[in-house]
Amino acid sequence: MRKKVSIIGGGNVGASTAQLIVQTALADVVLFDIADGIPQGKALDIAEACPLWNSSVSVKGTNSYADTKDSDIVVITAGFPRKPNMSRDDLLHANADVVKTVSSAVAKTSPNAILIVVTNPMDVMAQLTWKTTEFSCKRVIGMGGILDAARLRAFLSWELNISPEDIETIVLGGHGDQMVPLPRFTTVKGIAITEILKKKTIDSLINRTRSGGAEIVSLLKSGSAYYAPAAAVVQMVKSILLDEKRMFPCAAYLNGEYGMKDVYLGVPVILGREGVERVVEVKLTKEEKAQFKKSCASVRKLIKKLLL
Ligand code: APR
Repeated sequence: MRKKVSIIGGGNVGASTAQLIVQTALADVVLFDIADGIPQGKALDIAEACPLWNSSVSVKGTNSYADTKDSDIVVITAGFPRKPNMSRDDLLHANADVVKTVSSAVAKTSPNAILIVVTNPMDVMAQLTWKTTEFSCKRVIGMGGILDAARLRAFLSWELNISPEDIETIVLGGHGDQMVPLPRFTTVKGIAITEILKKKTIDSLINRTRSGGAEIVSLLKSGSAYYAPAAAVVQMVKSILLDEKRMFPCAAYLNGEYGMKDVYLGVPVILGREGVERVVEVKLTKEEKAQFKKSCASVRKLIKKLLL
């Protein structure tokens, strides 16, 4: 039997995610949105590309949760994107209402699904989804660090004129300006970038990564990034569906790991058939620990605002 992935929110990120999953024939896809006609139209367009992609999976657009029933994975992208001069945190209350409604519906229709949360501010939305659904925390995961890492890899590849495929990195902490990229664990085919780049260059690439989302928002003027976010979601979906057990930085529930309790934050995790199969802990330096703590505090501030 083919796997079923439902995507809630048929906007830019949702539809791009649907496209990539269908194009690679990873699973059948259901694209759900409250807007009448939008998910149906986008799904039909994607379905009509299948003969050209040699893909035989199905894709359906809908306004009914019944069609998402018993999904293996549900990706939550419903909500509002940023406008110029907005931080991800400015979306808090509007998106919390959406995510609460969506996640309680999903919990009823797909009680065994693994949920991937994309809606921003993502770390807090992941925590809200987990609380609302009462799912095991292994089955509620936030997409953020994998995207931040991809951005840093892209910038490094341009700086070094080396394929981004050969660049690896870990970004910890919240998916916001307080993210914690780790140059020590950023390598080119195993060579730490601290060996080959000046600190000043590394710092400037890290700063660009921190505001990577905002850079795109300010260019687009309306809407935020979606190609790379969708690609990041699809890597997570693939690792889960194929039980690849790949390691990605994702927002996961911390229960003592990295010295934090009862909070969703970006850390390296192993993603497999069970969802988050484990959190990988690395020893941080004093300075990295301080940055991680600061990032955690800014996520906790938002959690408090939502009274979670
Ligand atoms: N249920 C289902 N869909 C909803 C709901 C709801 N309650 N409320 C809004 N939506 C839908 C909208 O109709 C829209 O089609 O969510 C979609 C959001 O799409 P876009 O506006 O294109 O936003 P997008 O760029 O996809 O970003 C979605 O992901 O990366 C984050 O910050 C981003 O929070 C934002 C989210």
